[in-house]
Formats: sequence, C-alpha cells, structure tokens
Amino acid sequence: MNLIDGKKIAAQTRERIKAETEELVKKTGVTPGLAVILVGDDPASAVYVKNKTKDCAEVGFRSFEHILPASATQEELMSLVGELNKDTAVHGILCQLPLPKGLNEREIINAIEPKKDVDAFHPSNVGKIMIGNYDFLPCTPAGVMELIHSSGVSVSGKKCVVIGRSNIVGKPMAMLLLHENGTVTVCHSKTVDLKAETLQADILVAAVGKAKMIKADMVKEGAVVIDVGMNRDENGKLCGDVDFEEVKEKASYITPVPGGVGPMTRATLMQNTLTAYKLAMGLE
Ligand code: GUN
Repeated sequence: MNLIDGKKIAAQTRERIKAETEELVKKTGVTPGLAVILVGDDPASAVYVKNKTKDCAEVGFRSFEHILPASATQEELMSLVGELNKDTAVHGILCQLPLPKGLNEREIINAIEPKKDVDAFHPSNVGKIMIGNYDFLPCTPAGVMELIHSSGVSVSGKKCVVIGRSNIVGKPMAMLLLHENGTVTVCHSKTVDLKAETLQADILVAAVGKAKMIKADMVKEGAVVIDVGMNRDENGKLCGDVDFEEVKEKASYITPVPGGVGPMTRATLMQNTLTAYKLAMGLE
C-alpha cells in the first residue's frame, strides 16, 4: 500500500500559488481577495471558514469574512452577495454550506457572479464543466483528481466507481473522471448491490458521509481508494467513509482521513481564487 499524502501535496500547491501571487501583485499592485460568508454557528463550518482565512494569509491573498447570525434573512444575504459581486477588491466569493434552515441556498448560489464563483456551484459554471470548457472546477473533485494524478495511475480506460451523487462532490466527480476517459459508475443509496459495483473499481471514490462503511471485502486488490468522508467514529475520532486499517491492505494507493482530500479541497479553493483574480485583471 502507498499512502497518498494530501497534506504534503496541498502544501506544494500553496507554495506554487504563493510564488505566482507575489509576482502578479508586484506587476499589478492588486492583491487577490476572497470573501467568505458564514451564516449561523455550525461548529464544523466555523472551522472550515477559519482554515480558509488562514490559507489566504499563507498564499498572500486578502480575505474578507462575513459572519452572520442564524437569524439572518434571505434579503440580507442576497444584499451582501450583491455588494460582494460589485466589490473590485473581492475576486472570489464563497458562501459556506449548509445554510441554516429557512434560507434558500439555491437562490444565493444563483446570485453569485459566475466569474467570482470559486466553488463552481453556479448553474453556468456547472454547465461549463459538463461541456468540458470551464473557468473553475469544484474544489473537492478537483482536489481528488490531483491526488489520483499524484499516484501516477492513469484514469484512462479504468473502471471508476463514485459512491455518492451530491451536487458538490459525487456528480462533478463523475464528470471529471469521465473527462479523463474513465468508465464511470455512480452509486447511491438506492444502488441494489453496492459491493458488486465497488469490487469492480480500479479507482474508488467514497463520498457518502458514513463512518468506515467501505470494508476490505468491498475493494478490489490493487485499487486506488480516495476517501472524501469526514466523519466521527464511535470514539469521536475523525474518520473517513473507508475503514482505513482494513482497506489499506488491499489498496495500491489510499488517502488517509484526516490529511487526504480535505487539505486538497482547501488548496484548490486558493487556486480558484487566483484564477478568478486573473480573470478579473485580464491576465488570463
Ligand atoms: N460545505 C461543505 N463543502 C463545501 C464546499 O466545498 N463549499 C462550500 N461553500 N460549502 C461547503
């Protein structure tokens, strides 16, 4: 088994972004800026937003945190997005999901200027990805592709199985694997025989949200296993969707949790913010 070290690859990506940013700021006098909106007090979301601010500082971006109470109204949120769309210091906008109950996520996402939509959740960006001609890729699936590339295993012609069909991960993940000529199956809660599907996977991507549900007997010998899950086990310890201790014996390459996909998601967000900045500045 080979461990895919997401933390290390993400650090290398940040270094590259930092160097490029330094040069571009010197040239233009303008610093890339990312605005992050957090509504309510979900503790996991608060940690994610803090990490994004920290990443921005590390690569030399400005960051603008907008923290609203759970009682914020749809109108307030829409008005904030409108202001950020117009703000020339803000090149990327991200609204941390999920939003508290009562707020309409889709309406907010649709209101974000597509050229500032560093999550690539706006329908216009989703459509562009489908066609294969895009400005941004969604952070988690793009990070997963980087991890697969780092293994040196080619996706072309491989049987790829994605478990999970969310708009954030599963669906775009399938599309990116398809773009690289994988033969892709998407499994979900209504899949009749999950094990029969996963056993065929040369590349298995688990994005379900169920602690350690992928066991060794569900994995083909030599498979590349990517774990997008972020769960707590029975002892409250962070763990993925894959039973790492079991599955590592069968996988040729495997990502750990924590230290696998998570850091790459964050690094891709920085990459997308730099891309949004270049688009705004006419540098790309
Ligand atoms: N919540 C969980 N993952 C994500 C993500 O990639 N982007 C946003 N905006 N919210 C999330």
